[in-house]
Amino acid sequence: MLQKLFSLLMILVSLGSGTLREYADQMNLGGYLFLVNRDYPLTADYVPQDLVMPDVKRVSDAVLLRRDAASGLEGLFTAAKDEKGFVLTAVSGYRSYSTQNAIFARKVASVGRQKAMLLVAPPGCSEHQLGLAMDIGTSRDHSLTFAFGETDEGKWVAENCWRFGFIIRYKDEWTDVTGYSYEPWHLRFVGVDHARRIHESDIPFEYYIEQLKEARFEAAMSGL
Ligand code: DAL
Ligand code: ZN
Repeated sequence: MLQKLFSLLMILVSLGSGTLREYADQMNLGGYLFLVNRDYPLTADYVPQDLVMPDVKRVSDAVLLRRDAASGLEGLFTAAKDEKGFVLTAVSGYRSYSTQNAIFARKVASVGRQKAMLLVAPPGCSEHQLGLAMDIGTSRDHSLTFAFGETDEGKWVAENCWRFGFIIRYKDEWTDVTGYSYEPWHLRFVGVDHARRIHESDIPFEYYIEQLKEARFEAAMSGL
């Protein structure tokens, strides 16, 4: 609670009302701050219009991303190679509603609904449908397991992905908020400015969005 109040205060003192208006736009569908989870699902027909194939090492062609997110991923993978000699691999990017439906149904069939809900988003509830999420692995292992978080690559990604506009969306300690188990491999693009703020305040995306909305409300109420 204290942490939440502190980061709200930080946001309020660091933002002008113009910036807040821009951020509010980013929170709309099509913006990089659009929140998708089980409470805020997408419709089945939502398909982002600027999907491209990032120029990175990949395990299949199922790794489309929205244009800016793809550029960010390219920057991240290049920095990993140049700065540390790490070879990262793109595993799963944009997924349509029906693809997510199939993945979810398969998981329910294999582990049961309750467990599946912690691991895979039901159709409409996945950030992958936004074209702003990418699952990644190393060149040795792209099986998307907790182990990625313990690798040198995974640790470096957690510390550095914000520089390219990404956040680690599902941390272990945030399961109660996000609804999902730890996913060190799942990166969500929000743009560099917000990724830096989220990284520094170390709060779930849900809280960050809540705080931006509160800051906007406070600014409106105080006539800014
Ligand atoms: N595994 C994440 C939660 C997804 O399916 O979008
Ligand atoms: Zn993912």
